[in-house]
Amino acid sequence: MNVGILTGGGDCPGLNAVIRAIVKRGHQFGYEFTGIRDGWRGLVQSNTIKLTKQAVSGLLPMGGTILGTSRTNPLKKPEDAEKLFKNIETLKLDAIIAIGGDDTLGVAAKLHAKGIKVIGVPKTIDNDLSGTDFTFGFDTAVSIVTWALDRLHSTTEAHQRVMVVEVMGRHAGWIAVYGGIAGGADVILIPEKPFDVDEVCAVIKKRKEEGKNFSLVVAAEGAYPKEAGGMITKDKTLDSFGHVKLGGVGEFLATEIEKRTSLESRFVVLGHLQRGGTPTAYDRILATRYGIRAIELVNEANFGRMVALQGNKIVDISLEEATAKLKTIDLEMYRIAHIFFG
Ligand code: F6P
Repeated sequence: MNVGILTGGGDCPGLNAVIRAIVKRGHQFGYEFTGIRDGWRGLVQSNTIKLTKQAVSGLLPMGGTILGTSRTNPLKKPEDAEKLFKNIETLKLDAIIAIGGDDTLGVAAKLHAKGIKVIGVPKTIDNDLSGTDFTFGFDTAVSIVTWALDRLHSTTEAHQRVMVVEVMGRHAGWIAVYGGIAGGADVILIPEKPFDVDEVCAVIKKRKEEGKNFSLVVAAEGAYPKEAGGMITKDKTLDSFGHVKLGGVGEFLATEIEKRTSLESRFVVLGHLQRGGTPTAYDRILATRYGIRAIELVNEANFGRMVALQGNKIVDISLEEATAKLKTIDLEMYRIAHIFFG
């Protein structure tokens, strides 16, 4: 059995831990592994490497992905799709494990519908994939946001300022809510709940009246003011899955807050710091459990599935179910966060 492995979409701490677990467990079944470079692009271009047991040794704590990644939609152009199907045959791939988020696994679901033997592993720091309680990488991102908020607290308080911290989260506020709760944010803004700038300012002013001369606002990059009617974007260019480049809500808010409250305001964009570097222990363990189950599903010839965490159990759900709709924030978690606003 020759199993192809690819990592697609934005990178995520724990990708290498998944690859290591798949290869080490698969080796026990006597399988061979072909590493597909740069996500689905590697299958269009037939760009691969051999993944031996030795090649994955030492990968557990490494950030990034040894396979490289890209946001390539191989089904967008018919000529790319044709090359992809031909290369699956030429490379003699008996099965493919795709490690990715909504876009990468959306392609996996379509390929499975066309008869390709695919398994998915849920990856995204945004934690917005359906059918799984957590994706690996999310815990690491939350711990980086928490670390940043702890540091920003002391400088913000010392200067009696308002600090707006922009975190990742395109359509879902998971990182903002979990990071904001852990880091003691005074206001948390998420894409699921368009905000009113005056209401944010009122919370900050009330804090000041109560003797708190500083405030920390956490805003997901996809959060937007009701008055704007849509997300704040960097420019109008789209990637191959049709996503715009987000960014700017932090700067927008800091400017508006200073204007409307006369309190000195700053903003920090945490950006790719949340994605880079070594995974937390939680993510290493989750990534390892996902990798093991993924290759065991291959061994059971149970294709078209995505491994998932439900409660404390690793289960599997259909790729269609996993990619049908995004998983937005758990409103109970938002309720808890909201109790600490102000
Ligand atoms: O991985 C998902 C994500 O973290 C989104 O929250 C964010 O919009 C996007 O990646 C940005 O990634 P890049 O700059 O690599 O396109």
